[in-house]
Amino acid sequence: MCGIFGIVKEKEENLGPILIQAAQRLTYRGYDSVGAATLSRDGTIDLRKDIGRVDDVAARYNFAEMRGQRGITQLRWATFGAPSQVNAQPHIDSDGEVVGAHNGNVVNNVELRQQFIEEGLIVRSENDGETCVHAVERYTKRGYDIIDAIRLAYGDLKGDYAFVIGQASDDKLYAIKKGSGLVVGIGEGFTCLSSDLPSLLPLTRTIIRVQDGEIITLHADHVELRSVKDGQPIEREPETVTESMDAVQKGGYPHFMLKEIHEQPSVARELLHLLEDSGEVETVLEKMKDARHLYLVGCGTSYHACLIGSVYFAQLAGRPAIPVLAPQFVPQYAPAVGHEDVGVFVSQSGETKDVLTALQTAEKRGMTSFGIANVIGSTLTKATSCWLPLCCGYEISVPATKTFTNQVITFLYLAYRMAGRDTRELMQIPDLMEQTIEMVAPQIEAIAPSLNEWNDLYTLGFGTTFPIALEGALKLKEITYAHCEGMLSTEFKHGPLSAVVEDYPLIFVAGPEDVPLIVSGINEVTCRGGRAIAIGEEDARLHANADDVIVIPKSNPYISPLLSVLPLQLLSYHMSVARGYDPDFPRNLSKTLTVD
Ligand code: G6P
Repeated sequence: MCGIFGIVKEKEENLGPILIQAAQRLTYRGYDSVGAATLSRDGTIDLRKDIGRVDDVAARYNFAEMRGQRGITQLRWATFGAPSQVNAQPHIDSDGEVVGAHNGNVVNNVELRQQFIEEGLIVRSENDGETCVHAVERYTKRGYDIIDAIRLAYGDLKGDYAFVIGQASDDKLYAIKKGSGLVVGIGEGFTCLSSDLPSLLPLTRTIIRVQDGEIITLHADHVELRSVKDGQPIEREPETVTESMDAVQKGGYPHFMLKEIHEQPSVARELLHLLEDSGEVETVLEKMKDARHLYLVGCGTSYHACLIGSVYFAQLAGRPAIPVLAPQFVPQYAPAVGHEDVGVFVSQSGETKDVLTALQTAEKRGMTSFGIANVIGSTLTKATSCWLPLCCGYEISVPATKTFTNQVITFLYLAYRMAGRDTRELMQIPDLMEQTIEMVAPQIEAIAPSLNEWNDLYTLGFGTTFPIALEGALKLKEITYAHCEGMLSTEFKHGPLSAVVEDYPLIFVAGPEDVPLIVSGINEVTCRGGRAIAIGEEDARLHANADDVIVIPKSNPYISPLLSVLPLQLLSYHMSVARGYDPDFPRNLSKTLTVD
């Protein structure tokens, strides 16, 4: 997803390196083009941008030499307009006197562009970031000052976005937040802003979290906040962030993904401690127990956690829960929900638009809603009266790993509590995860090269391992670009079996209680020449029937699926690296999807 960064200094200086580094820190969000602009007190704007990776574009256009008193950089993930030089951001206004960039989605972009053209403004691209610039320009041209122009533009721009804008004629930057993330930083002799907190941390620990409907003015030595409604000043004390920078560095690992895979035992430990002491858990459990219907709502990896959560609630506590892909919640369930129902909305980022839209719809119907999120201060955590944190720290790599396992642990913990089971059993999870990584790492490295010869494979599971098969397939798809389908193992014979040819790879994820069923599935494919790779606990039946067995430690039927996702994460990682891809930043994908 797009990311913006802006900085205001006291004097003109070489801002290029600062802008390049800020852009590099935003790359984890996913992007296809990058741009930078500097504004000087003499009224000049230097704008350079193109499609490509930050390092390449910055080198090609020599961002490093860019000087100015203010600077903006933007990483664009295309929605309006193809990835191209002209659609890359930042954008200038008709006269080249104002420059700005946005993150988000202006949904009436096409209509507004048409209006601007009819009004005689010079529209150069199809991109909605340019629309934000002209939306302000149309009012400054009519004589409004910049703050009032931004307030009026806010009324015209539909959708969710945050944008930053600067005019060559003064010495400030201005920004507004509506739906997309925006954080302000205050340093010695400068102020800055960014779409997210991690990209500010190397510059300053003094920050202000911006709320929706607030306009920011960055001066070199202070920051002003105003309400977009009436233009009145808002007082907010800056806060000091104490989080460690380690979280946003690779810590000796070649990729964030590998680091985050290895962090899973420690973040699981932290989460379990927190859950044991959490008052929110009681509130959530009370409401879930009494609910007429219970919905677990998420997208992508978070949806897979919802799926396994629903199996846990049924198996452990006899409580039916309906897992739903967030956008489908709106047409399929929202019309029928009411105040007797409970929804748990799950999102790593807490910013996924699909999830937030489902939540808004549910709230309008009076449904009780809870959140499970990793990013504290995200929209989901603000929009729900009660939410549970995932305690994972920053997850930088686009493919989710540690946030998935902590989502699963959260559901498992809630199901244990609902069932009145002793949660001390769960305290062995972190150690078991450590053992799993140690046990499977060499097995995975050995098997990955032969699987990498294929561009087409299946992962199959049953019961609690069905969601794990889906999650494994998603990881493989995201970062190896191979086609991998996750399925219920018993469904494979109803059609996909026709794909099986000699050595065709199929990965079976076997829960300890489902081995006989999985063995049937294995034999249906091996007798047709397929190659079955089983992931499961040490079991003679798996060894006797599968071509390869990836052995995970013994645990129980509920913990075992959680462990079995670890080899799938590692497999996708190694396959991706062997193919020459960057698993942290897969093509076309974005970590935080704030668009429909
Ligand atoms: C994007 C990411 C996925 C993620 C999904 C949901 O598509 O690429 O990795 O699972 O969004 O994200 P969330 O932040 O809501 O968990």
